[in-house]
Amino acid sequence: MSKKETADFDVRIDKERIREKDRNTLKVIESVFDFQTSMLIVKLMNNGIIKDIGFCVSTGKEANVYHGFGYKKEELAIKIYRTTTAEFKRNWMYVEGDPRFKGYKKGTYNFIYTWARKEFKNLKRMESAKIRVPSPVIVNKNVLVMEFIGKNQNAAPLLKDVKLKKANKTYSQVVDMMLSLYEEANLIHADLSEYNILYHEKNPIIIDVSQAVLMDHPYASAFLYRDIVNINRYFSSLRVETYTDEELFEQITGTLPSPKVKSVEF
Ligand SMILES: Nc1ncnc2c1ncn2[C@@H]1O[C@H](COP(=O)(O)OP(=O)(O)O)[C@@H](O)[C@H]1O
Ligand SMILES: [Mg+2]
Repeated sequence: MSKKETADFDVRIDKERIREKDRNTLKVIESVFDFQTSMLIVKLMNNGIIKDIGFCVSTGKEANVYHGFGYKKEELAIKIYRTTTAEFKRNWMYVEGDPRFKGYKKGTYNFIYTWARKEFKNLKRMESAKIRVPSPVIVNKNVLVMEFIGKNQNAAPLLKDVKLKKANKTYSQVVDMMLSLYEEANLIHADLSEYNILYHEKNPIIIDVSQAVLMDHPYASAFLYRDIVNINRYFSSLRVETYTDEELFEQITGTLPSPKVKSVEF
């Protein structure tokens, strides 16, 4: 074979290898995901975003989270929103009041893509406000790639599963995060609790932000009040001397919560 022929041959073999790898990847992920999602992951692999997709960190109501590696050996969390779920009907109100998603078209697929994009945008916004969240890498349709919080393929535990040594300190860290969320990012998390905060290297890290809304959302104050109640309830149960719910609301927003804000039921 001439040099040129050898080179062509190498290229062909390489392509074939990639295809073989794709086929194997596809086999693994096709058993879990629909064809479109599988193809999307292969695309992200060929685009140099994901090198490997590994074990499942969590199977949630709306999404599964997988561990992965990037091409610089960095650990990634790959959140894949399920394209078939009834949960999304309930979530409509978090998108409806958000001017960032005005042009959004109805339909389950579109809704889920919007939901994933919303989480990505919210992560970006929080990161810019220097709030500790998983750094977002990319979002494409129903797949969101972000920084993996944890080490050596061990995901950081949720706050609810940690025996905090200095619960007082963690409480004030969480309160500071809520303040920055409000003041710097102008966002309300709207599902904040010990279930959506990871604890890593002695610091709380906020996750699961797809439902977070801008402050001008019609229910923003009610969502904030609910977040405050959750956080105070959790830390009170650890015998932390928390602010009262009203005090913390006032500290964050500058005004006391109205009776209406306190009584909204979702
Ligand atoms: N960036 C991340 N790094 C490590 N683990 C994560 C990350 N994001 C999510 N997880 C894990 O996956 C679980 C589900 O993620 P979450 O965003 O809360 O989705 P949902 O609650 O809607 O299923 C979390 O409780 C957490 O254990
Ligand atoms: Mg969650």
